[in-house]
Amino acid sequence: MASKVNVITIDGPVAAGKTVVGRELAQTLGFTYLDTGIMYRAVTWLALNKGIAIGDETLLGSLAHDNPIELVEDNSEQVSVAGNILGLELREANVDQNVSIISKAGPVRTELVAQQRKIAAKSKIVMIGRDIGTVVLPDADLKIYLTASPETRAKRRWQEMQDRGETTELMTVLTQTIKRDEIDSGRANSPLKPADGAWHINTDGLSIQQLVKQIVDRTKTL
Ligand code: DC
Repeated sequence: MASKVNVITIDGPVAAGKTVVGRELAQTLGFTYLDTGIMYRAVTWLALNKGIAIGDETLLGSLAHDNPIELVEDNSEQVSVAGNILGLELREANVDQNVSIISKAGPVRTELVAQQRKIAAKSKIVMIGRDIGTVVLPDADLKIYLTASPETRAKRRWQEMQDRGETTELMTVLTQTIKRDEIDSGRANSPLKPADGAWHINTDGLSIQQLVKQIVDRTKTL
């Protein structure tokens, strides 16, 4: 019997494995894949580029509203916004350091949530982020909350940075990871937390293939 699952949400803290699991899962199931973090990063990049104060929530909201973000076909690493195709720029240190602050702004969240729901209405989707199961798509067919220890997550982020040629101390990455967790979980607006009915998976010591298989198997039972 065909699975009744059309919408899967994956939430969790930074470097829990959401991106790689989500992308692989979407590919296996033939679903669209949307990493919503990239949208918050795109607004941050635009704000920094235009010199908008990161504390000016109203202006940031207008910026997000006036510059809708489009997915670049077949490329989950890039988005098109305000005439720019953005990819690697969204992973740079200045975006990394400001994105948690900008993603706290209510007007930015309202705008991006609306854009995310529009994208989800178009096709079967795996959507990943921090508030997808709690706020964006609470009626999703399968809601997953991925976690891993801060040490494992910091090590993954550090490795990604090494691979990009950035030299940083592992301890610095661990401190930043814990700080970002605090901001993401402590914010008043859509804090990071598991959705009601979410399936919790700890990714410590599990391979991507094992995780994806577990999830695909679960979709067959729904
Ligand atoms: O997953 P990421 O590291 O690319 O996310 C970047 C930032 O955006 C992170 O600080 C949390 C925030 N974010 C959010 O608040 N809500 C989402 N749905 C996705 C990301």
